[in-house]
Amino acid sequence: MSNLKTVLVIDGGGRGAVLVDKYGQSQSVGRILVVPGNDLMAINTSKDVITYPNLKTTSIKEILEIVEKEDVNLVDVAQDNAVEAGLVNELEKLGIAVIGPTKEAGQIEWDKAWARNFMKKYGIPSPEYHVFNSEEAGLDFIKKNPGKKWFIKAAGLAEGKGVIPAENFNKAIKAIKEMSKFGKAGETYLLEEWLEGEEFSAFALCDGGSFKLVGCAQDHKRVNDGDKGLNTGGMGCVSNPKVVTKYITSQINQIFKKTIEGLNNERRPYKGILYLGGMVLDKKVSVIEFNARWGDPEAQVILPSIQNDIYKVSMAIVSESLKQLKIRIDENTRVVVAGTSKGYPGDYSKVKGKKVFGISEVQKIEGIKIYGAGIKKSEKNWVVNGGRVLYIAGEGKNIIDARKKAYGAMALISIEGNNLHYRSDIGFRDLERLRK
Ligand code: AMP
Ligand code: GLY
Repeated sequence: MSNLKTVLVIDGGGRGAVLVDKYGQSQSVGRILVVPGNDLMAINTSKDVITYPNLKTTSIKEILEIVEKEDVNLVDVAQDNAVEAGLVNELEKLGIAVIGPTKEAGQIEWDKAWARNFMKKYGIPSPEYHVFNSEEAGLDFIKKNPGKKWFIKAAGLAEGKGVIPAENFNKAIKAIKEMSKFGKAGETYLLEEWLEGEEFSAFALCDGGSFKLVGCAQDHKRVNDGDKGLNTGGMGCVSNPKVVTKYITSQINQIFKKTIEGLNNERRPYKGILYLGGMVLDKKVSVIEFNARWGDPEAQVILPSIQNDIYKVSMAIVSESLKQLKIRIDENTRVVVAGTSKGYPGDYSKVKGKKVFGISEVQKIEGIKIYGAGIKKSEKNWVVNGGRVLYIAGEGKNIIDARKKAYGAMALISIEGNNLHYRSDIGFRDLERLRK
């Protein structure tokens, strides 16, 4: 019997694909299983990759069966629904090594009202907020407080659609009335002060007692260039964004420290990756949200910068010995661009099943990675299977270099019927800063 380990990754998109790539590079890992995974994920590794396309990330019973049958050594729970469903708790009960927070620690993502109250209790800088449990109460509040701009948010997980910007009174009324359409997730909702600043995301590895900040990125959430159009899950990212100066980094470290200590104080020790979504205003950080996982597509620019064997990093988290591990981060800059179906994040049903071209050409280019998401193999063709189809990441010495590579490769990709959409301005803020 070989000593090589079997890792199970819980995710279906680009974030799962980069985890497959990283575990594939580990000397310790022999086989990678992914629930549900996607057909393009295996492209970056020569190791065995087995996907389970018919399962969901919340199919707890089936996942536990796989863990037992396949002798899984480590489960990496990378997806928020699985955290909320308590997958980590079930795996820990069985004594399985697992990366990801328990349901209780993960409440910091899956319950925005709980998260805001937690932040307030532990002095974590946040916008003004108000929590409501009925439509009437929110409407009453807004009528008494007109003339302010709000972000209106369902407290629960709503597939990234539960946040509605309301820049005036009428939009706020409409948004409050829409909360009921999120079902249980919208039963409790928040009105948050609209912060105008520059966003970033920061990522820390946490082993329950301590944490290590491993990188920052800047996502581009709106669907079109110039930050126009609807909000999406993320259209592209740059690593090491310049908005995160030394002074901002020291604030980020303070926030992680307070958060980890606070969660311990609440008897919810946090093990896994903690994602801080922040906003910089007047050189001060305010927390927009915490997520209990890597960002997608942030993972695609941060994970590759970690030079350690990722299996060893994961086991240091599991064994609560992160402090003893020196994390080595390379100095490259990375840019990732999402290639999406035209119509996403709205209706893209007409694009589903269309052929995707150019993948094998891009694969040959040095300094480029393709990470599969909403894509599958049908006979000999790659076909569209989701809104965010694939990601192309370029790495280089600086943003100009990295962008050139990513966009050069994206130009080789197409979707049948001219149905590929991507933003052409990922990293524009840092580029503008360079030109100044
Ligand atoms: P979320 O679903 O919580 O990630 O929110 C989606 C996006 O809405 C964030 O990435 C921000 O761009 C924006 N957002 C959320 N809350 C606020 C806020 N209080 N002020 C300004 N922008 C916000
Ligand atoms: N890129 C944003 C997220 O993962 O939530």
